[in-house]
Amino acid sequence: MPDAQVLLVGAGPGPVDLMTLRAVRAVESAQALLYDALISEEAVALAPAGCVRIQTGKRAGKPSMHQDEINRLMLRLARKGLRVVRLKGGDPSVFGRVGEESAFLREHGVSVEVVPGVTAACAAAAQFGFPLTHRGEARRVVFTTARLEAGKLSADWSAAADPEATFAVYMGGEMAGALCERMIAAGRAPGTPAVAVEQAGGANARICHGTLETLGARLSGHGGPVVIVVGEVAAQAQGAAADEAPIARTA
Ligand SMILES: C[S@@+](CC[C@H](N)C(=O)[O-])C[C@H]1O[C@@H](n2cnc3c(N)ncnc32)[C@H](O)[C@@H]1O
Repeated sequence: MPDAQVLLVGAGPGPVDLMTLRAVRAVESAQALLYDALISEEAVALAPAGCVRIQTGKRAGKPSMHQDEINRLMLRLARKGLRVVRLKGGDPSVFGRVGEESAFLREHGVSVEVVPGVTAACAAAAQFGFPLTHRGEARRVVFTTARLEAGKLSADWSAAADPEATFAVYMGGEMAGALCERMIAAGRAPGTPAVAVEQAGGANARICHGTLETLGARLSGHGGPVVIVVGEVAAQAQGAAADEAPIARTA
């Protein structure tokens, strides 16, 4: 029997045509597919008949599986000799717990292959026509999350003062106002352009334009996942104005 192996695969931001060919092939050849809540039905449908399909994230009011449970499940399936594919939204190395899952599997003698994916901030930038870096304006990109483990807003935003840094903030939709206030308090100019993009990459994607001073108040309603991009580059963003396309305060 071949060595036990798990593939940790990035599905990109939603639509299957934003998956890499390697990711598509991995799913098409999976014998066990464990997939997160943000994975599209189209992506799950790529798995062959007979593949064991297990949804590990919250959907339709069902609770998420605990991380330990997911780890043990991957291990059990891999030890049975199945080709296990763990399919995650975006890129597995960006807030995708790839480090924890790889370490657990390797400690238990299971080899791991990671397949990268298009992360939400890159999908948002491409779709709404703005760059994340820009010569002479944005020399750095910070991928960050607004949340600490306890679900609270993280405290240290001192890096936000850097006028040449673009901030791509994940899991910050619900607390966008407080997040923007922290960035201003840390020394970033209140007029710094900021956008929030909901369901980046998909046909239903929406953008809300603003500045650090205005963005929090402009987000409204309920919807899908939101990534916030703060920095001079956000001034180049195209797309409908906030009033025409109000978007959610959800994560
Ligand atoms: C646990 S993180 C996973 C990030 C993912 N690994 C990635 O690379 O995009 C989940 C957060 O990513 C962001 N996100 C994921 N998919 C998104 C999308 N299609 N549009 C906007 N934001 C998205 C949201 O901030 C969401 O709360």
